[in-house]
Order: sequence, then structure tokens, then C-alpha cells
Amino acid sequence: MADSTNAPSSFWTQANALLRKNLTFQKRSMITNIQLVLSPLFLCLLLVLIQNLVDNELDKPSNRCGCTCVDTDGNGQCETKCGIEYSTLDQGFSCPIPHPPEWPPLLQIPEEQFRAVRTDFTSYQDLPNVSCKRTGSCPATVLITGNNQTFAQSVSANMFSTTPLNINFSDILYSIADAALGSRRNTENTNFLDAAFFSITPIDFLQPQCASNSQFTIPFQLGSATIQQDVHCVQSLHLWRNSSSEINDELYKGYRKGNPERQINEIVAAYDFLNSNENLLNVTIWYNSTYKNDTVSQPLALTRVARSVNLASNAYLQFLLGPATKVLFEFVKEMPKPETKLKLDFANLLGPIFFIWVVVQLFPVILTSLVYEKQLRLRIMMKMHGLGDGPYWMISYAYFLAISSIYMICFVVFGSSIGLKFFTLNDYSIQFVFYFLYINLQVSLAFLVADLFSNMKTATVVGYMMVFGTGFLGGYLFHYFLEDSSFPKAGIIAMELYPGFALYRGLYEFAQYSFAGNSMGTDGMRWKDLSDGKNGMREVMIIIALEWLIVLGVAYYVDQVVSSGRGPLFFLRRHKKNISSSFCKSSLRRQRSKVFVQIEKQDVEQERERVEELLLESSKTHAIICHNLKKIYPGKDGNPEKFAVRGLSLALSQGECFGMLGPNGAGKTSFINMMIGLIKPTSGSAYVQEQDILINMNRIYTTMGVCPQHDLLWETLTGREHLLFYGRLKNLKGDSLLHAVEESLKSVNLFHGGVADKQARKYSGGMKRRLSVAISLIGDPKVVYMDEPSTGLDPASRNMLWNVVKRAKQNRAIILTTHSMEEAEHLCDRLGIFVDGSLQCVGNPKELKARYGGSYVFTMTTSPDHEQEVENLVRNLSPNASKIYQISGTQKFELPKQEIRIADVFEAVDKAKSRFTVQAWGLADTTLEDVFIKVARGAQTFNTLL
Ligand SMILES: *[C@@H]1O[C@H](CO)[C@@H](O)[C@H](O)[C@H]1NC(C)=O
Ligand SMILES: *[C@@H]1O[C@H](CO)[C@@H](O)[C@H](O)[C@H]1NC(C)=O
Ligand SMILES: *[C@@H]1O[C@H](CO)[C@@H](O)[C@H](O)[C@H]1NC(C)=O
Ligand SMILES: *[C@@H]1O[C@H](CO)[C@@H](O)[C@H](O)[C@H]1NC(C)=O
Ligand SMILES: *[C@@H]1O[C@H](CO)[C@@H](O)[C@H](O)[C@H]1NC(C)=O
Repeated sequence: MADSTNAPSSFWTQANALLRKNLTFQKRSMITNIQLVLSPLFLCLLLVLIQNLVDNELDKPSNRCGCTCVDTDGNGQCETKCGIEYSTLDQGFSCPIPHPPEWPPLLQIPEEQFRAVRTDFTSYQDLPNVSCKRTGSCPATVLITGNNQTFAQSVSANMFSTTPLNINFSDILYSIADAALGSRRNTENTNFLDAAFFSITPIDFLQPQCASNSQFTIPFQLGSATIQQDVHCVQSLHLWRNSSSEINDELYKGYRKGNPERQINEIVAAYDFLNSNENLLNVTIWYNSTYKNDTVSQPLALTRVARSVNLASNAYLQFLLGPATKVLFEFVKEMPKPETKLKLDFANLLGPIFFIWVVVQLFPVILTSLVYEKQLRLRIMMKMHGLGDGPYWMISYAYFLAISSIYMICFVVFGSSIGLKFFTLNDYSIQFVFYFLYINLQVSLAFLVADLFSNMKTATVVGYMMVFGTGFLGGYLFHYFLEDSSFPKAGIIAMELYPGFALYRGLYEFAQYSFAGNSMGTDGMRWKDLSDGKNGMREVMIIIALEWLIVLGVAYYVDQVVSSGRGPLFFLRRHKKNISSSFCKSSLRRQRSKVFVQIEKQDVEQERERVEELLLESSKTHAIICHNLKKIYPGKDGNPEKFAVRGLSLALSQGECFGMLGPNGAGKTSFINMMIGLIKPTSGSAYVQEQDILINMNRIYTTMGVCPQHDLLWETLTGREHLLFYGRLKNLKGDSLLHAVEESLKSVNLFHGGVADKQARKYSGGMKRRLSVAISLIGDPKVVYMDEPSTGLDPASRNMLWNVVKRAKQNRAIILTTHSMEEAEHLCDRLGIFVDGSLQCVGNPKELKARYGGSYVFTMTTSPDHEQEVENLVRNLSPNASKIYQISGTQKFELPKQEIRIADVFEAVDKAKSRFTVQAWGLADTTLEDVFIKVARGAQTFNTLL
């Protein structure tokens, strides 16, 4: 065992110890963990429920293929008929269509007010006058060009038939196939029902010259129903342009957007006949692809283009073979389809705001657990027992990352298994990378934010406020900016610097892709989609990855500053060289020249000299050397500065137990806190095992044990687990670890009755105390600090504890503070009485008693009449005796030891007894208690006088 404890534990040993501790800790909070992991499942199920409600709503008759009651056989009774012809336009979408209706092919005609007219920005005089807009008679223009103008113009002359529309009602489609029909109405996303035929906007019928009676109605059969559609004549115009670039230019200038104050000139189509001739038809056609119905957001159904192609080829054929020859384009129709349902993937719409909560919810969980260790000072407790920052960071980080990963995996698996498209459609590898990057950022962020909090409750409240705030702001504010295409991209990116919004953006993109994928029956996001300019995923991933690295660095740095109490620029400072010899000379000189305002007690002065000598020689025999250690708390709120420790010098050798006595608030705990690295001394220096506490605290920690005044324990870990953890930190392994833990438990009487395996929160105050002492001693530390170790212990446990400490002090230095004189006398080789920030005296208990208590206390009780006689008796024994107490016959005197012999006292009392009745009498040596009270009172009077 001895050799294993000599070497400080390695990085991996510490990491292993911490990991095992964390896992045990985690096991204890299983229920919380299960709740945590189930919460995404709960949210996913909620989404599925909402989705079902929405589906049910969509499945209502008003959304399904419609039915009406019609009297078909004329018997006055109506029969229910269902099908596309009995549906409203909305219902029609979901009908089964075994025989899709046929629709005459149409051209896309610009709205009347947008049709091309003569303007100041076009030089073409052949365009109609702008006055046509007032009468609503503007022609629809077609532009023509080609290598051979004669040819192109003769061909295009055939495009629009001049014969009046002659409708054969028994074959409507055939009879109107030759006419150039068009519509101003935009297309829908399917052509099962051409919206142009369900619109009050009439169908346009293009002719070079409109007859006066140019408006009539055509009946269309739709199943068994008939639709009456108005048709009216629009004048067509075909104009020659010299080149295709002229056409381009004209089209460009006529563009509707970016041309608000000037006129808009739109055309139906433009044809470039290129090198076409009698033997060859080679034609380029311009059409406007932007026509679409924005509310459905579908690209132009190409059905509108087909007719413009047919127009050219038909005209060419007529040019070659005469007007009688025609390639008629009678109708277009969709392919048949079965009944469909309206679909609305609700999960994708609501997804981001739901899922952002799921993901961000981890943040307060991690934050609280980090702050928990900080608030209970467990982090520093671990540090004091040798846990380095490296293993702490590595394990804590890896640990929270693992928890986050498990959580996210559950989240995605649940979501996928209940079939949410949000998960199933998008590439899992993208989801993995995105979530992995984000949880890394989140864990780092929690580390950073944890540095700002010291209270778990505040941290929890703030954490959850951040969760809800992020969700709501993301869902209602950021979302709005995302959808606003006019909002600058840089602004979006700037907002994404806030991690919550970056997360929201990622989820939003997933939702967009799976929504589109779901409604169009395609895939969701794939890696190749990341290069899509509209997809913000790539930027978000880059932002998250960069922030992760930065936040992690900053968090580590802040942690170093906060936890070590070093200045914010600690790494700039050069490490001071080893101390013992070089440092002291200068500071000693400074000290010597200083005038001590306080009249030092001789022994304290001796101790100081001893320390100064020790510092000059590089001694190895002393475990602890403090030199002129001071701690001054700066004045606050107008209060003066508080001198907690005013220049303390002390040296302890190995195997010595030093007891520090002192009233409350004397500065004992401040002193201990300085020695264990919790606070920094204002001035002075201290060496533990030759290491400077200002520089090499981390090394000191590997050979140090602390029993703090308040027990620093994990509530859910058992006593045994605590000792196992700290034992491992102290490099105990295998059997020697188990043995040491068992011994330790036995020694503090926590072994029997299953106490060792109870959780620490179920311990009584005394049990916690004993566990703390056991922790401070495990792993054979060379220096141990015990801050009031026996407080709250019953006498039996206290005796047991004393034995433990006594045994422990063999080869280590122990500094112990206590209020119990009995304890100090029992355990300590030397004592110091510490009052008001400085030592009043130092020495072993006997010496102190001799020095400060150099007197006996003589007590005698008689009847009040004999008081004077008793006093005379005492004066005879010792002229310098002083009366310290007198009440109804009982008197107490202090007799200087050097003036009396005990035998004389007995003799005198015997004589006295013969003269009057002595009810009781006693002679006692001074107790340490008396010394303490005397010294403390003296020092305090002295200080108040100052
Ligand atoms: C242009 O087309 C016309 C009509 O087809 C034809 O007569 C004439 O030869 C063509 N001109 C050239 C230069 O090809
Ligand atoms: C109308 O069409 C039907 C069927 O194609 C045909 O029999 C009839 O002769 C046509 N009527 C006229 C007036 O063209
Ligand atoms: C777009 O479609 C909606 C219904 O789907 C219709 O109400 C609206 O009038 C259409 N807009 C145009 C410009 O055709
Ligand atoms: C094409 O159509 C869109 C939308 O209907 C319109 O804004 C635009 O001006 C048109 N472009 C041309 C060149 O006519
Ligand atoms: C059609 O016109 C284009 C553009 O002038 C030309 O490159 C192509 O060779 C022509 N095609 C034929 C078959 O002549």
C-alpha cells in the first residue's frame, strides 16, 4: 500500500475515478434520467396526436371528393352522386379520376393592363397606342424573328386563324382545336381541372381581327355535368423584330418587376425561326415561366407552353401545304389517378418549435448539475484531494456529451419509429452531424454559463427561462425573419450567432425539406442540398462548429481564472522559481525592518524566528511552513477592511499535530482556507512539503487531505462510494483500495449495520462528520487539515475519532481547529491560541498551562460568617493570592504555584477544620479552558484598546 500511495495518481487514474463516481451518481438519479429521456418521446407522441387530429379534420367531407344530390332520372327524387363533377374545386383534388377530363390546350395571355404598348422606352412604333388600355382592347402580342424575314412573316401569318369560331356542339373540342385559345388565369398544380375553365375570367380567343359579336359561351362536358365557359375575342398581333437580341432587350425592359413607374410590356410568346426554310423548321420559342399561382407555389404547368409550340408547327405546315392542312392539337389531359387525401404534415410545420425545446431542454440539466458541484463546493473538494483540471474537464465533458448523445439518439429513434417525416425523410448522416455539433456547443456553453452561477436554484431558473425564451423567440421572431425573403442574409447570419437561433435554423431547414419531400413524394435533405443557396444548413453548421471551439476555449479559460483565483492574465505571468532560499531573503529584510505595533508574545516571536531560520535553510523536515501569512478582506459598503489573519508564522514537522484554538471569528477558518487554496493570502507565503501554495497548489493537492468545517458530500452517494472515489484519486487501486476503504470505514465506525452503503443524505450530522474525517485521511496524505472535526459528535464517536486521528498523526502533519479544549489536549502536540487574526501563544498543552495557568485554584465553602477567616488562611499560605469568586460562603482563590506547597495547603485546611466547619474544599490545577479564556480575554482587551 505504501508504495502505491507515494506516487501521485496519473491523469487516467483520476479520470477513471471521476468517471466511476459520475456513473454511480447517475445510477442514483435513474428516475430523473428516465423522465428526461422519455420527454422527447412524450413530445413526439403529442405531435402524432395533433397530426391525427389534423388528419381527421382534413378527412372531413368538405375536404373529400364531393357528392351532391341530383335528380338524374327526372322522377323528382334526387340521387346522391359523387365524383369530380359533383365536387367543388377544393374537393375535386381528392377525387379518384379514372378518366381524366380533356381540356383544350391554352396559351398564357398577359393581363390586359400589362400587354405591350408603345412607350417612351421602346423605339418600336408598331406596338399599339397606350390608349387601348382605357378601352380594354389591347392586343396580345407575339414577336417574330429569323434569318429570312419573308419566310418568318409568311409562316407566322398562319398562326392565328382568321375564320370565325364555328362550334359544332356535338364535338366541341375538335371544332375549337384550330382556334388559338388562351387564358389570363394562372395554372394550378395539377391539370385535372384546368382553373381557366372554372373562372369568371373568360377564355381568350386570339384572332388578328375581332368580329363585333366576339363574345359567346361554350359548354364543356365534365363527366355528366356541363360547364358554361365564356369565350371572348382578343386581338392578336405578330410583329417582326430584326434579331433575337432585340427581342430579349424588349422583353427585359417590359419586365413587371423593377419597372414600377414605367410601363410594363408583356407578350404572349416570341419565335425565332433561325435558319428555317421550306425544308427545315428550326425555331426557338420564348415563354414566360414565372407565371404561377403563388398560393400553391407551383411552377408553371407546362401545358400552357404546348399550345405555343403547336402554333408554330401548324403554321409551318399550312405555309408548306396550304390552309387546309392542319395538325390539330385537340386537348391535354392528366394521367388517371386514384382517390387521394389532403395531406398536411403538421409535425413539419410545428416541428422546429417543438423540437427546439426538446434539444435545448438538456441545457439546464447540464448547467444545474455543473452548478450543483460548484455550489456544494464539491469541485474544490475533489480538487483538494488531487483531482486535476485536465481529468475533470475531460471526464465531465465526455460525460455530459454522452448523456446528450443518448438523449438525442432516443429523440431521433422515437421520432423515426413513430414515423415522423421530419426524421425519416432527411438524411440521417446530416441529422447526426448537425445534432452532434450542436450538443457539443451546448455542453461547452453550459460549462461557460456555469462559471457565472454559484447557486443551483438561480441557475435552474435562468436555464429554463433560456429554454422557453429561445423556443418562443425562435418560433415567432426568428422564424418570421427567415420567411421574409427581403430580410438581408447577413442579418439572418448575425442572428444565428445566438446558438438557439442556429439550432432553430437547422431544425427549420430539416422541416422545410421534409415538408416539401412529403408533399411532393421526394426525399428530404441530402448532402448535395447543402450547396443549395437557399439552404442555411451549411452556414449553421459552420457557425455552430466555430462557436463550439471558441466557447470551449473561453469556458476553460474562465474556469481557470475562477477556480484557481488567478488573475485573468495568468498565463502571461512567468512561473516563479522554487522558493525556499531565493524568495525569503528579500521579504525577510522587509519584515525585519517593520516595526511590530503589536507586542508579541515571546513564544509566538520564537516561532516566527524559527520559521525565518527554516526558510533560509532548505529544510526537508518540515511539512508546513507559513510565514507572515495575512488575509485582509477589503472594506465593503463603507465597512472598514477586515483583518482575518494578521501575519501568522508557523512551522510544523512531519508527525506533528497542531491544534488551533480560538473563539468564533478569530480567523481560523480563513487560515485553513488559505492553506487549502480556497482563498488567496493577501500577503505572506506558505510552503507545504516545500511547495509554494501560491504556485504549486496542484502538486500540494496530491498529498493533502481536508476535512472541511461543513461536510462536502454528494447526497446520493454512499459513504463507501465517497471513500472509493477519493481513494482512487489518491492512487489506491485494487485490493489495497478496498482494504483502505474498509479500514477507514471501520475506524470511523461507519462500517457496521450497513451504514457504509447508505446514501449520505440519510446520514446524521455526526455520521457525515465522521465520513468527512475518513475522507481526509484516506490515501495516506502527508498533510491534513481538519476544521472542527468533532463538532456534533456524541462522546463515543468522538473518542473513536480521536483514536483515528492519533493513529493517523504518526507520519503526517495535521492542523486541527477546535473549540474543545479536551480534544486539543488529547490530540495535539502543540497548540496555538488564535485570537483576532493572530496567534497569542504557541506551545505544547503542558507548557501553556504552566505558563498561563501557573497557579492553583483553591475553593472553599463555609458558612458566610467564616468568610474572613478563610481569606486570612489563604493570605497566610500565599500573600499574592487573589480572590476570583465569592458567593454566600463559597470562595475561589488563585494561588501562584511557586509560593505554595500542596502539603502546606492540606495542613492549613486541617487546622481550619478544627476552628470552623468547612462544608467543602478543593484544590485544582488550571485547565486548558482557563488558559484559553485568559488568553482570549487578554488579547481581545488588548485589541480593543488599540
Ligand atoms: C426567304 O424565304 C422566301 C420564302 O420562302 C424565299 O423565297 C427566299 O428565297 C428566301 N431567301 C433566302 C435568302 O433564302
Ligand atoms: C358536327 O360533328 C359531328 C361529329 O363529328 C358531325 O357528324 C357533324 O357533321 C358535324 N356538324 C357540322 C355542322 O359540321
Ligand atoms: C391561385 O389559386 C387560388 C386558389 O388555389 C385562387 O383563389 C387564386 O385566384 C389563384 N390566383 C391566380 C393569380 O390565379
Ligand atoms: C412574366 O410573368 C411574371 C409574373 O406573371 C411577370 O411579373 C413578368 O413581368 C413577366 N415577364 C415578362 C418578360 O413578361
Ligand atoms: C438551328 O439553329 C441553331 C441556331 O442558329 C443552329 O445552331 C442549328 O444548327 C440549327 N439546326 C439545324 C438542324 O439547322
